Amino acid sequence: MTTHLDPARVPPPPGPREDPHRSLHSEAGARPGEHPGRSRNPLVKVAGLAWLEFEKPDLDRAGRFGTDFGFTVADRTPETLVLRGRQAAAACLVVRRGPRARFVGPAFQAAERGDLDRLARGTGGTVAAHQGGHAVLLRDPSGFPVRVVHGVPELPALPGRAPLPLNFGTGPARANATQRPARRPAEIQRLGHVVLGTTRFRAALDWYLDTLGLIVSDFLYLDGQRDRGPAMAFIRCDLGSVPADHHTLAMGLQPHTGYLHSAYQLTDIDEVAASGAYLRERGYRHAWGLGRHIQGSQIFDYWRDPDRLMFEHYTDGDVFDAAMEPGWAPLSASGLAQWGPRATAEFTGTNDPRVVVAAIKALADKGNEIDLHALRGLIKAMGS
Ligand SMILES: [Fe+2]
Repeated sequence: MTTHLDPARVPPPPGPREDPHRSLHSEAGARPGEHPGRSRNPLVKVAGLAWLEFEKPDLDRAGRFGTDFGFTVADRTPETLVLRGRQAAAACLVVRRGPRARFVGPAFQAAERGDLDRLARGTGGTVAAHQGGHAVLLRDPSGFPVRVVHGVPELPALPGRAPLPLNFGTGPARANATQRPARRPAEIQRLGHVVLGTTRFRAALDWYLDTLGLIVSDFLYLDGQRDRGPAMAFIRCDLGSVPADHHTLAMGLQPHTGYLHSAYQLTDIDEVAASGAYLRERGYRHAWGLGRHIQGSQIFDYWRDPDRLMFEHYTDGDVFDAAMEPGWAPLSASGLAQWGPRATAEFTGTNDPRVVVAAIKALADKGNEIDLHALRGLIKAMGS
């Protein structure tokens, strides 16, 4: 019988110049002819993710989860709830009253007002006044409405906690003082990214690169099916020499098109863990964490809101400038984290019975990229 300790199967220890993480990370780049991960001539280059729009039937409940999760209420009317982080920025979430809980779409920040005109000309859209600024409303190939905004007034910064002083390295940062991070709601600093599943991944990927000028940080492919191209992409803003979040948008080929999660930056790891303890005490449903991702390197913790939509707390994510080329790695559940518990079915969505119905529908619908081969690859990835 072969065991895991069979010496013939144990890899040799890494040599002095070998990176022991090499098999975990995606430092391997593209092969000749593979997707370049950026458009040669995009219509515009957006400056960032502005906010996310949702609909919810119960705005009071959404507000309670929102403040427990770490947002601050910026505005509340009978029909709208606006949740913000503490940094000076637009709001993070705009939640309107609607018949069922759903993600509506993202809003991106245009770098300049003229970019809205370029987008309108290039897509047949129109520029309209929006929230004190201007916006053009587009639709991506997955069907999500995508707003690109400019001139919407920023909310002023709110005071926030400083990172805890840590006794790491030489010389204590904290003498004659204890460390007591409080189990209380997080103080969300800002919106980081949104992750979407789509049955039309390749079309949507190219649309975001060509239309909004986003660029790919990392591609994931279905193991054994690299020749069909990427099946997931972590995509950032092209800010030239200014480093941008490793991903502002991530998209993956999925049997059904929809929101997967969105992520919000916290000040340090104790904030992630201690605010997670608070959410647990309040009875919220934990999805996955703590761990550290590979693509983006964030220390993460995932939660479900009362409508089962997933939200992520994170800290210490990578930032890349425009010089970084896309990495390539196979998609697998175990490849989603460097350390931490194995990705749960609650996180991957494989415990949701609706996924089977969605897969059958996607197979029957010929206008997408889901075929049996792709489905097999996705199932294998989630089990490996
Ligand atoms: Fe995330």
